[in-house]
Order: sequence, then structure tokens, then C-alpha cells
Amino acid sequence: MTSVRIVEMGPRDGLQNEKQLVSLATKLELIERLAAAGLREIEATSFVSPKWVPQMGDHDALMRALPRRAGVSYPVLTPNLQGFHAAMEAGADYVAVFAAASEAFSKKNINCSIAESIERFLPVMAEARDRGVKVRGYVSCVIACPYEGAVAPAKVAEVAQRLVDIGCHEVSLGDTIGVGTPASVQRMLEAVAVRVPLQRLAGHYHDTYGMAVANVHASYLFGLRAFDASVGGLGGCPYAKGATGNVATEDLVYLLHGLGTDTGIDLDALVDVASWISSQMGREPASRVARALLAKRPRVAA
Ligand code: HMG
Ligand code: MG
Repeated sequence: MTSVRIVEMGPRDGLQNEKQLVSLATKLELIERLAAAGLREIEATSFVSPKWVPQMGDHDALMRALPRRAGVSYPVLTPNLQGFHAAMEAGADYVAVFAAASEAFSKKNINCSIAESIERFLPVMAEARDRGVKVRGYVSCVIACPYEGAVAPAKVAEVAQRLVDIGCHEVSLGDTIGVGTPASVQRMLEAVAVRVPLQRLAGHYHDTYGMAVANVHASYLFGLRAFDASVGGLGGCPYAKGATGNVATEDLVYLLHGLGTDTGIDLDALVDVASWISSQMGREPASRVARALLAKRPRVAA
């Protein structure tokens, strides 16, 4: 049976956009519940400036308190050496650097040009190599940028290749504002695949226009076997106004199980997590699959 890797984004990409500060206890419980449902890679937090993203300001405390489970990894975002050092001190063992295919987004998100961001990653890559720490790379705005509009697939390919050249084991391709369609995603993948092998690529599709599941399917047919997703469809990016969360993990799992692939995830348990974290945030789960499966459950008398 084909297997597909899912990298869970809920605790990081999901929560980073929440206006109200979420308690450390809730974040820890979310990560534990996700691991219990079968997620094996859970992006736990980001070692970014708390002035830029206050919601992630408890990164140290979270990584120190997080119980580790065998077979589960907990990657964290590290935009520069300062973040990398803090992540290492807090016990992280898998990090991610993040670049963009749009100059304007790079400036808004990490306050530097694309070329400067790669320069900043070089010492992170060198130290990570010395310590045997895996580094994932992200490219944001692979379809379009909230400030510059359409982004050329050739630019995405150039940045993705650069991240592999400096040592990233995998590059996650982010449709940050969720405007892609299967056609535009395929055009982007065609350009990237010329320069980066498919097995080193992951799809990271936000669902603003409701196309994320379709974009995952198009990417799966193209040959991708790793996808990022966020439980309950939580999230967005503070520097991409109006963008919604990643494809909901339960929608992704339903799609993949329907394709006969193995994810190792218990869909019912995952829907419980979606329902629980959504209620913690004071809303219903955004995903169609969670809503459909919850509606089929017997009602408990009040
Ligand atoms: P900067 O202001 O240019 O940094 O920010 P600086 O080096 O000039 O330092 C200024 C201050 O920031 C100093 O503090 C530093 O200590 C501090 P001060 O002396 O003023 O008190 N600082 C830090 N503090 C904590 N952790 C650090 C750190 N580095 C410097 N690592 C910086 C540059 C990158 C730090 C900032 O722009 C930042 O934190 N940006 C993060 C933005 C972010 O988290 N965005 C969301 C994540 S990306 C995303 O969601 C997209 C993705 O999902 C894919 C997709 O969907 O496309 C991955
Ligand atoms: Mg994202």
C-alpha cells in the first residue's frame, strides 16, 4: 500500500493566527492528542520574535514541557541563528527555515530580502549539520503573494532548489493565501520538479478558496507523497491577511484513505481532536469531514 507522510501544522500554523493567547496547557494537550491519534510529525511551535508573533512567545516553555513520544518528531520554525540556538537549548531536534518566492512577502514576514534570508540560513544549516539536526525548508507564496500578486513558477523552483542546495532535506511548498487551483498548482510543480526530486517536496496548501483538498489531489497525482495539514482547518499567517488555515488534517486523511493510501491515522480520533480544539477556540471545526462525521454520532442527552 502507498503511504503518505502528513506533517501536522495545528499547534504552529494553526494557532499562530489566533488573536487570543492560547494557554500552554491547551497547546500541550493538543500536541498530545494529535500524537495519540497517530500523527508522527507535529510542528510544535516557532522560535520567532514574540514581538512579531506573540502567540508563539511560549516556545521555550512549550518545548521544555512537551513529553516526547517514541516515533513522533516535533519540528519547530527557526528563522535565524538566534532562533536556532534557542530551539536547541529548549531540546528541539528537528527544525525548519522559511523563505518566500516573493520579495514583498519575505520583507513583511521576516524583514529581509530572499537573498538575505538564505544568507541567514547558512549558519543555521552549518550548525544543524554539525549537531545532526534535520532541517526542513519552506517556500511561501508558491502561487501568489498577498502584496505582489501572481508568482512565477520559475521563481518558486529557484528558491526551492536553493534550499535543497544549502542542505534542507525537504522543501514544503506553501500556497500561503490559498488561491491555487489544481491547474496552477500543477504548473508550479512542473517547474519545481525539474530542479528538485519529487520525494523531497511537500505540499502546504491553505484553504482560503476551498481548493486545498483538490490541490492535494492534483499534487498526489503528480507524485508528491508528503503534505502539511492543520487539525480542524485551524490557522493562517499573521502576514497574509484574510488567508485561512491549511487543508484540514481530517479532510486530507479522508481523501488519502479514499485513495487507498496508508497514513497511520485514526480518523475518528482525529475528528475528536478537531472537535475539542475548535471548541477551545469557541467555534465549530471548519472541515467538512469533521462536521459530517460529528453529525452522524449519536447525541448525548443533556
Ligand atoms: P528583525 O526585527 O529583523 O530581527 O526580525 P533583528 O535580528 O533585527 O532583531 C530585532 C529584535 O528581534 C532583537 O530584540 C532580537 O533579539 C529579536 P530586541 O533587541 O529588539 O529586544 N530577535 C528574536 N527574538 C526571538 N527569536 C528570534 C529572534 N531573532 C531576532 N528568532 C525576525 C526578524 C525573523 C526575527 C522576525 O521578522 C520574525 O520573528 N518573523 C517571524 C514571522 C513569522 O513567524 N511568520 C509566520 C510563520 S511563516 C508562515 O506562517 C508561512 C508557512 O506556514 C508557509 C506558508 O504557509 O507559506 C511556514
Ligand atoms: Mg502556512
